[in-house]
Parts: sequence; C-alpha cells; structure tokens
Amino acid sequence: MLYIGIDLGTSAVKLLLLDETGKIHNIVSREYPLEFPHPGWSQQNPEDWKHAVLSGLAELTASCDKSRIAGIGCGGQMHGLVILDAQGEVIRPAILWNDGRTAKQVDALNQGIGMKRLSEYTANIAFAGFTAPKLLWVRENEPENFARISKIMLPKDYVNYILTGEHVCDYSDASGMLLLDVRNKCWSVPMLSICGVSEAQMPKLHESYEVVGTLLPEIASALGFPASVKVVAGAGDNAAAAVGTGVVGEGGCNLSLGTSGTVFISSRRFRGDENNALHAFAHADGGYHLMGCMLSAASCNKWLMDEVYRVRNYPAEQAGITEQMLGRNHVYFLPYLMGERSPINDTNARGTFLGITMDTTREDLTQAVLEGVAFAIRDSFEVAKKLGIEMSATKICGGGAKSPLWRRIFANVLNLPLESVASEQGPGLGGAMLAMVGCGEFESVQAACDALVRVTGVTEPEPALAARYEARYRQFQKIYPACRQLFAELAQ
Ligand code: XUL
Repeated sequence: MLYIGIDLGTSAVKLLLLDETGKIHNIVSREYPLEFPHPGWSQQNPEDWKHAVLSGLAELTASCDKSRIAGIGCGGQMHGLVILDAQGEVIRPAILWNDGRTAKQVDALNQGIGMKRLSEYTANIAFAGFTAPKLLWVRENEPENFARISKIMLPKDYVNYILTGEHVCDYSDASGMLLLDVRNKCWSVPMLSICGVSEAQMPKLHESYEVVGTLLPEIASALGFPASVKVVAGAGDNAAAAVGTGVVGEGGCNLSLGTSGTVFISSRRFRGDENNALHAFAHADGGYHLMGCMLSAASCNKWLMDEVYRVRNYPAEQAGITEQMLGRNHVYFLPYLMGERSPINDTNARGTFLGITMDTTREDLTQAVLEGVAFAIRDSFEVAKKLGIEMSATKICGGGAKSPLWRRIFANVLNLPLESVASEQGPGLGGAMLAMVGCGEFESVQAACDALVRVTGVTEPEPALAARYEARYRQFQKIYPACRQLFAELAQ
C-alpha cells in the first residue's frame, strides 16, 4: 500500500509518497506567498494552501499505481487562525504562528485573566502566535469578520476539511490554540467563553492517528484516487516531525531547524512547566511533550542569503568558514527577526549584529547568524535543564539540519550528540506514518517508529570546541537583557 504525508509549512507544502516498508517513492514541493502586511505581521491565504496541496498531490502520484494509495496524514504549521463562514468560505487570510500583532490581547490574557488561571485552564499562558489572542484581535479589530465565523480551525485542519469535508483537529495541534485543556484533552469551556466563541464553532477532537474520514468523492475523482483513501487527523508540524524522527514515548528529544526552531521533549504522562517558558502540549503518539519554539531559525540564514547577499548557493557561503574561525567569532547575532517566543516571549525583540569591526568579513557575519540561532536554541535547552530534564542526545531534522557545518555548531553549542535520521522530511514523514497507523499498518505510533526510523549519522561535540562555545554562549546570554528596554522603546 502507499501512504501520503503532507507537510504544510510556512514557505511551502512538501508532500511525500511512502510505501508500507517506509521507502520514499517521491517528494514534491510547492511554494506559496507569505504576506507581511505590517512589520511583525504574518499572513497566508488558505486558498493558496488548497491549490498547492491539490496540485502537489496530482504531481506526487502521477506515475504511481493510484489504486494502492491507502491513507493521507498531514503535519501543519501550528497556531494559525483559519476562519470559515457558514458556506465554508475563508473569511480572511490566516494569521500565522509567527505573527506578532496581538501584543495587546496577550497582555489582556496574561495580566487581565492572569497566567495562573490560564495555566489552570490550558496548561499554558498566552503568546502572540497562539490562536486565542488572534480570535480576540479579530473580535476587536474586525467585528464584521468575527460575526461571520462558523468554523474555527488550524492550517492543516483546513487541508483535511478540503479533502474530507470534516471539521476536525488533533490534540497536538489543538494544544497550541490556548483553547484546549491540554491535560484533560477537551476544549476549555472558560477559554472559549473568554474568546466569545462556542464549542459548535470548534473542530471535533481526535488523536493524531485516528481516521477522521475518507476523501470527498469529487476530490477522489479529480485526483484519480480510490474513494476509500483514509485521512487521519494528523498533527502540528513539530509533533509530526518528532514522529518522523522517532521521538515518541518517554524522554526523547528532537531539534527541528525549519523556518522556526524548536526543541521538543516527549513524555508519556502530562508534564507542565510551572514558569510557562516551554509549552506543555499533547503529542501525536497519544502522550505529551514540552516544547520551546524560536520564531526565526533557518529563516535567519535564508534572510541573510536571499535578502542581504542575494545568493542562491547557501553551502558556498559556508565554505569559507574555516576550522580556525569556529568558536572564535567576535561578531554576535540576535536572531529575533520576527520578535521571539521561547524563552524570552518578546514581540519587540529584533535581529541585531553586535561586535562588528573594520576587519569583520562576510564569513564572520554568516557564521554569526548560524551561531546566533544555535545560542538561542540553547536558551530553551537551559530551561529544560532547570526543570530537571536530562538529555544525553537529540535527534535533528528540518532544512537547516542539512548543513554539516550548522550541525557541528549546534552539537558544540549544546554540547550534545545530534542524531540524524535517514530522511530529514520530519513532518511529512511523520504525517505518512500517522496515516499508516490509522490504516492498521502498525498498531501504534511507537511501533511505526520502531519499524521505520533509522539513525544514519551522529554529530558528536568536540570537547575543545564545546568549551570555546560555552564561553561565547555566556557572552551571548548578556546581549538580549542589555537590549530589551531599547527594543521596547524602538517599538513605540
Ligand atoms: C510551534 C510553532 C512553529 C510552527 C512552524 O509552536 O509555532 O514551530 O509550528 O510551522
């Protein structure tokens, strides 16, 4: 049988076709536009996702025996607010996970309702990217749109809605709405009421590997797929990526280097962070996880290459960074190009180069960006360590993980071995594996991971280099606190 995994990302959707042995037969990618209508705002048109997914599915399966397609699973960018009217039409562009417009609503939730009550209701506090503050923003700023809302959903749920007509969501993705009682896996009645919405407007909840429906007849016939193709609830992209790297069950860790950068720590039972620096969410295997999310990770390097240097060959830019330069850079970079979520939670924070002199080279700047992202991820690891979580290694996935130099910098900044798996297509692979579980190919997500995920390489930390990076991380830690007040003033 064949299974399709969909990774509904921020810059593109990636689709992959997998057989029951885990062999990847094809990978297809489709880009779509990302709008920044104001500094710090970030939107996308759900219709663009729809066209990209449908045309991507057609290309992905163009030369396979379509009668063998059994299931589809989607991992999607989290937290985005998608609202549909009573006719199922999209009301406004989706407000994405890295959008910072809701500072006022976040304040009203965290200070007005209070972090203690929010944590009781949802196990989390408000962050600008989460869905609940966006609902409040629409209510305050676009009351005519708010009044038309019939269905509220997350980005990958819109894809499932287009494919099956079902209005559903899974627990991992729903966790990031600040509307779910994460510990008890049900909608939080007080939170729905605070946001002025009802349970009837919310999707029906499922475990990620549960089948939520089959393809709509018109979709199946347009694609030439059997109408019996099953669609599972799927997961938030980080939970799906963790499945794709085998981080399920107790105590696994995955580092994802995509547009965002995340540290994902799995657990069987619910575990919260009493300081709310890390998110306490449900996992796609039926368990839970803690997660730290930085808003701009591989996107910092992409920004430097695309917008500043205007080059396409990223490896060529890294080729000039010599052995001698590692751990000795005099330039530092704060990677807060879209503000920052974990752990500093500051929408006003901005990208910053520090320490430039007349002898600073292009390579120093490139290296500073790679290092700045690694240092900022280390900030989330430090929070996990303070919670008593011991990590002896971490899996790594995402576009940024393709760079051997960046992996080496990460291994030494974190002083941890990084395990690469056969495919770095984390969320797409995880989505397809969830579909395999839903279709009965495996009895559990754990069993699917045991059978299909293979570690193919380890990047070990090197003691002398790790020591140099330790010293530089201590310097890096001082930069944001020194700039925080200035960032707030500059935002006025
Ligand atoms: C996680 C988060 C990001 C997006 C990226 O909380 O906001 O990782 O899911 O797609």
